Amino acid sequence: MSSLENLSREDRTFPPSPEFAAQANATAALYDEAAADRLGFWAKQAEYLHWDKKWDQVLDWKPPFAKWFIGGKLNASYNCLDRHVLEGRGDRVAFYFEGEPGDARAITYAQMLHDVKKATNALIELGVKSGDRVAIYMPMIPEAAVAMLACARIGALHSVVFGGFSADSLITRINDADATLVITADGGFRKGAAFALKPIIDEALAMEPNNVRNVLVFKRTGQEVPFNSAIDIWWHDIVDRQSAEHTAEFFDAEHPLFILYTSGTTGKPKGIFHTTGGYLTQTSFTHRMVFDIKPEKDVYWCTADIGWITGHSYVVYGPLINGTTQVMYEGTPDTPTKGRIFEIVEKYKVTILYTAPTLIRTWMKWGEEFPKAHNLTSLRLLGSVGEPINPEAWIWYRDVIGGGKCPIVDTWWQTETGALMISPLPGVTACKPGSAMRALPGISAQVVNDEAVALGNGSGGYLVLTEPWPSMLRGIWGSDERYQETYWSRFEGKYFAGDGAKLDEDGAIWLLGRVDDVMLVSGHNISTTEVESSLVSHPNVAEAAVVGATDAMTGQAIVAFVILRGGIPSVGGDELIKDLKAHVSKHIGPIARPSRILVVNELPKTRSGKIMRRLLRDVAENRAVGDSTTLADPHVMKLIQSGLASSTSDD
Ligand code: WTA
Repeated sequence: MSSLENLSREDRTFPPSPEFAAQANATAALYDEAAADRLGFWAKQAEYLHWDKKWDQVLDWKPPFAKWFIGGKLNASYNCLDRHVLEGRGDRVAFYFEGEPGDARAITYAQMLHDVKKATNALIELGVKSGDRVAIYMPMIPEAAVAMLACARIGALHSVVFGGFSADSLITRINDADATLVITADGGFRKGAAFALKPIIDEALAMEPNNVRNVLVFKRTGQEVPFNSAIDIWWHDIVDRQSAEHTAEFFDAEHPLFILYTSGTTGKPKGIFHTTGGYLTQTSFTHRMVFDIKPEKDVYWCTADIGWITGHSYVVYGPLINGTTQVMYEGTPDTPTKGRIFEIVEKYKVTILYTAPTLIRTWMKWGEEFPKAHNLTSLRLLGSVGEPINPEAWIWYRDVIGGGKCPIVDTWWQTETGALMISPLPGVTACKPGSAMRALPGISAQVVNDEAVALGNGSGGYLVLTEPWPSMLRGIWGSDERYQETYWSRFEGKYFAGDGAKLDEDGAIWLLGRVDDVMLVSGHNISTTEVESSLVSHPNVAEAAVVGATDAMTGQAIVAFVILRGGIPSVGGDELIKDLKAHVSKHIGPIARPSRILVVNELPKTRSGKIMRRLLRDVAENRAVGDSTTLADPHVMKLIQSGLASSTSDD
């Protein structure tokens, strides 16, 4: 969690330049318009989409269940592609794709539509029908977007699983959604080498009974992969021979569009479930206003992987609906050099760059020589997402990357919110570095105390959303109860986001990080419970407690405290620590690998047996340990600390 002291060190504000304001899509009048008639405002934004049949009712709100644009019919894939081609924009580039090895492709809207229609026909041949679930486990290549849009075209739900997740995580997600088809690739390129994906699918499917009938495999790298011809099919064998004709069918506005899993406070990931009309309305609206998109001129680049919500809303749906030309990059920012991102910005004359604070801080660490070696003057707007951005990083981003002239939009939102919720409007908002500023037009946010009472300026508490919004999650897949319990039970009638927030003297919102047991590591949500369960599944571990400790580079770093099991033979010291880290990495995925593991004899627990993570966080962050009087055994913290002083801990 960023501390308040940290946030207030920079007290300049940055008003929009007159030049930017003069050409901006957004105006201050949007706030008034939305405040005067919220539903009318959202209906107006929905008009921007192509509807086969217009809605009869804007909102049906039976808390906490919302339906938007009831009676309306539309198709997500049609809105992203067909529409542009039919209206004469088929020759516009949709994606400039850069593979990590240096292969590049420019794919027009017409080409995307052609590819999606063929992929759709292949899905139909494989028996995929409206309402079915399709798991997608792919590298960051255009075919991942093609696969998503092919599903959407026939009303099948995609469930994209990030390529960095393990077989274990994959089978949990495949089975929770009861997917019948998996779309994958042989592998992809990362850090200068080919990595494999297909064998991980095989491993996953062998772990538990499942209803997967086929695995559709795109050949990206050409590496040898195991192939079971009873269920595996090469993309080029089935997609290439399909007809390029397919007429999109129109679905109800509330037809399910996708499921995307995110970490919960308990070990089991939550299948966040989104529908069509409201989601497309808000993603495209926010993309136009917050990124100030001028589709005829801009080259937009959101660096998020398609496996995360940012990739769904701000690589696929929002930008394509708006007819945007964008860059898609497969690999890592340091391959072959630490200047790779800047080289791509220069090559395509990127105008809008949307990325995460963790990458900005990494660039700061690498040094200014990398950005300075490239011409970045094409940039005109910068965005940040995923975790609070510290003011130092904000200023560095503005000065070194943006040449001091680009507005920065610090965008707060979640997998659950589907689209941006709190952000400056470029050209309108005077920004304070480190603050996401205020709720967007049409969105109602508050900061409340423990009793759900809205707080005034100058106070800190919990962030809540008080009115339904078009792109809100419609539930947790398979569990309405968990949906109610997780988001709507803590504060009566209000959506609890799980984030701490403060309103400053001027009413600007400062996000302070998670208040629950979810960690934000490089902007990715990882639950402490999930990592704890993984550690405890190792034969040498009796008990584990995991905390997110503030980290200069990744925002939070995973620090684990483990109690070893007696009587179990183990490799000693450092070897065991390495083994435990590898175990978690294999079990959940490399993003969940603890950065430090500390062996202890006791864990601090309350009398009711709850681990007091707050105290462990003090230890992990090298602070004096806070109030420990509610511990069942108040001496535990002393024992832990004295034990640590004598142990070898981390790498
Ligand atoms: C955090 C990512 C501060 C927050 C889009 C939220 C942020 C969680 C910001 C959702 C931001 C995201 N400032 N914190 N600009 N953006 N967060 O579901 O804690 O992967 O609850 O969605 O990321 O993460 P998720």
